[in-house]
Amino acid sequence: MDFESFYKDKRVLITGGLGFIGSNLAIMLVNIGADVTIIDSLDKNCGGNEYNIDSVKDKIKVIKADIRDKDVIRDAVEGQQIIFNLAGHLSHKRSMKQPELDMSLNIFTSLSLLDACKKNRKGVKIVYTGTRGQYGKIIKNPVDENHPHNFIDVNGISKQTAERLHFLYSELYPQIRVTSARLTNCYGPRHQMKDPSQGFISVFIRKAIDNETLELWGGKQTRDLNFVNDVVNVLLLLGSEEKANGQMFNVGSGVDNTLENFANLIVKLCRSGEIKSISMPEDNAKIDIGNYKADISKLKRLFGWEPKTNIEEGLKKTIDFYKKNKEEYW
Ligand SMILES: NC(=O)c1ccc[n+]([C@@H]2O[C@H](COP(=O)([O-])OP(=O)(O)OC[C@H]3O[C@@H](n4cnc5c(N)ncnc54)[C@H](O)[C@@H]3O)[C@@H](O)[C@H]2O)c1
Repeated sequence: MDFESFYKDKRVLITGGLGFIGSNLAIMLVNIGADVTIIDSLDKNCGGNEYNIDSVKDKIKVIKADIRDKDVIRDAVEGQQIIFNLAGHLSHKRSMKQPELDMSLNIFTSLSLLDACKKNRKGVKIVYTGTRGQYGKIIKNPVDENHPHNFIDVNGISKQTAERLHFLYSELYPQIRVTSARLTNCYGPRHQMKDPSQGFISVFIRKAIDNETLELWGGKQTRDLNFVNDVVNVLLLLGSEEKANGQMFNVGSGVDNTLENFANLIVKLCRSGEIKSISMPEDNAKIDIGNYKADISKLKRLFGWEPKTNIEEGLKKTIDFYKKNKEEYW
């Protein structure tokens, strides 16, 4: 698909656009000629960072505000043709300690956006970013879109509820077109590096670069990691494809590996750091999903989509980015 001809001069809003995935998406959209607006509250429980969009900051409109503010979101959606709804909270662990916060940042954010679109933005296309956490405890790998929702934490429920609200609004108000990308663990440049509960790979990389100890909880669990450029590529695809409307898609690399192997590869590529295996803390064990590998055949079947970046290449690019931009993320 030639994204450039589709997105050139299109008016695109990214909620959560100062965050990890949103900022990478914003940079790509600017590069292919879209007219990009970001709305982001830089919530302290999330991974936003103004430096993320430094390279394109003069070409983007940034609204620093909470999308739960109805007046702000009403004005922000006006005239937008495509909305990537990425604002949200992703720490499974914090969702158990502060369930109201998680529910509010994931459900009331989306509800506020959808309501604004219902009133002010007929004909809009919304791409929502869901999560593999919506499947909860995994009973069968690879995981396809029909896997049952065995919720094991509040975050899985809040993300599923938000996704369902998107589809409900598109069913009741057909002028709102919706698709959902259920993402597995993503890694790459512009991810926050401090809070392990928002993603273990970036924290492993920080520890390895600093020649510290990477703590593995067990280490035999498998995960499917997806490089952020591939994730951005799927989001652009889903935003441009009418065939994607009303549907959800698992997004992953389709390749799984153990956490131990990911940690070893990071230490090897950084040429520093050491690994220590300890048993998983009880709080985390309770909400552990087991092993995960995404079945991405639906994306392949409908659109011929395949990820382009293998894990070694993606990690090299990521490590290189953080070595060059250390002071902005440490
Ligand atoms: N990163 C991953 O591995 C991953 C995996 C599965 C799903 N996802 C989903 O993708 C989306 C983006 O993830 P990310 O890794 O870029 O997260 P992130 O934390 O880096 O970015 C989220 C952004 O949303 C903003 N935000 C939160 N609440 C807001 C509000 N009320 N108003 C305005 N802005 C608000 C935050 O300030 C932050 O900048 C999330 O919805 C997440 O659930 C991410």
